[in-house]
Amino acid sequence: HETAWLNGEFLPLQEARISPLDRGFLFGDGIYEVVPIYDGQPFELEAHLDRLEYSLGEIRLRNPLSRAQWRSMIAELVERNGGGDQTVYFQITRGADSQRDHGFPDPDLAPTCFAMSSPLAPAPARFASDGARAHLVEDIRWRRCDIKATGLLANAMAKQAARDAGADEALLHRDGQLIEGSSMTLFLVENGALLTPPKGPSILPGITRDVVINLARDLGVAVEEAPLAMTRLQSCDELWFTSSSREIMPVTQVDGITIGDGRPGPVWQRFQQTLSERTR
Ligand code: PDD
Repeated sequence: HETAWLNGEFLPLQEARISPLDRGFLFGDGIYEVVPIYDGQPFELEAHLDRLEYSLGEIRLRNPLSRAQWRSMIAELVERNGGGDQTVYFQITRGADSQRDHGFPDPDLAPTCFAMSSPLAPAPARFASDGARAHLVEDIRWRRCDIKATGLLANAMAKQAARDAGADEALLHRDGQLIEGSSMTLFLVENGALLTPPKGPSILPGITRDVVINLARDLGVAVEEAPLAMTRLQSCDELWFTSSSREIMPVTQVDGITIGDGRPGPVWQRFQQTLSERTR
């Protein structure tokens, strides 16, 4: 995983350099995506490129590559990094201006475009056997969490608070509602149905979220997209987090609360099994 891509060129990751005046560095003024690669093939790439388009549009940053160019750059990056299972990360920032100024620079300024690949690390075995642990953290992020922006300080602080509490992921809450994880979408299972917060400015519209909702349709499982009060933690049977790099992660402990019977549940088993069949 040593080959990266920067502004149109493949190069060793160690040799990639950007200016300290880059607005990604100074302001977190950029958009990113993370796409899983299974056996050399990107999973749901078009959905990730659609979301990229949406995020760029919301911050008025032009997409420097066409769809065809994104597809071929990603294919070549995957190939140069040995195929197999990987995660590809890419980001676009508003580029390096000649000085630090909050307002957007001249739109002719070249954006900085970067991509790299990492191994797709398998989930720790204890997640499937015992379930992961979550820690409740107040959601202090901004009100445009639907934009996949590189400014992730609040997410990083939440993840670290979870780690400090001995947990695997933060369960963000705001105004008495459960929102999502620091880098994952939230699902609950109650009476055999899936519950997840609706799309809107307070969550990232997860690609794995859409995949899971489509799986539910295929499996004949009901899905309710509605705000989830924190008291649902006591009544739900299962709690999952989903993401492109972690697939469906069952959670059995939230601070002192045991979810369901404290084991990864049967609905999780069925969905994760079906998802694995579709990705591999
Ligand atoms: N995180 N919510 C947040 C805040 C996220 O950052 C992510 C993705 C998700 C899940 O989205 P998806 O299913 O499209 O991966 C939900 C990526 C993986 C990351 O930041 O590494």
